[in-house]
Amino acid sequence: PRPILLTRHGESQDNVRGRIGGDAALSEAGELYKKKLANFVGKRLKSERAASVRFFIYIDSISSLCSLNLLRLWVFGREGKRKRKTKNKKIWTSTLQRTILTASPIVGFPKIQWRALDEINAGVCDGMTYEEIKKNMPEEYDRSRKKDKLRYRYPRGESYLDVIQRLEPVIIELERQRAPVVVISHQAVLRALYAYFADRPLQEIPHIEVPLHTIIEIQMGVTGVQEKRYKLMD
Ligand code: F6P
Repeated sequence: PRPILLTRHGESQDNVRGRIGGDAALSEAGELYKKKLANFVGKRLKSERAASVRFFIYIDSISSLCSLNLLRLWVFGREGKRKRKTKNKKIWTSTLQRTILTASPIVGFPKIQWRALDEINAGVCDGMTYEEIKKNMPEEYDRSRKKDKLRYRYPRGESYLDVIQRLEPVIIELERQRAPVVVISHQAVLRALYAYFADRPLQEIPHIEVPLHTIIEIQMGVTGVQEKRYKLMD
């Protein structure tokens, strides 16, 4: 089994002000989370490498006892493969700076930016607070979005259904990966990704709880999908 780690970016300055969308930097709490996350990810991903090194030393001492060079070669080959697998562990972010900044202290793993992992586009409401939206467009927002959050499309923006559709290539790529992937993204996007792996119904997606500063670890094994949540801070 290989884990997929899902997390939102550390709290942003817009989160503090209650503004949706935007491209703000991290708040003080967000800055702290990025350090805690790097520490967690480093340990979590490196623990697999440590296990393979122990295996190598054990087999190598048997090989010197038997002076079987062939066995040595075989073990070296396997170790090489394992090292390549380690390299395959990746950090995926969106193209928005709050996810890129959250990933910044994580070192030793390649980072890939996906536009498809960007937060739901709130169109004309981008940068507003929920209060401002209610005040400026009460009909539109209060009636339509509350009634059908899944299908509601922000004027000149996206709906949850749009987000789910644009995530298709990300999901295909995630399914193809053989090594762990850490996905640092946003609330709406992670609701959709999580729902796919946890097999949750479409209608529930816009309401799934994906809190800040929490890692959702999904293990895909032969017996199905297992989930663990790690709350690194409040
Ligand atoms: O508030 C943070 C945020 O990521 C916004 O940028 C985004 O519009 C919102 O969450 C999505 O959540 P909801 O669909 O519940 O408004």
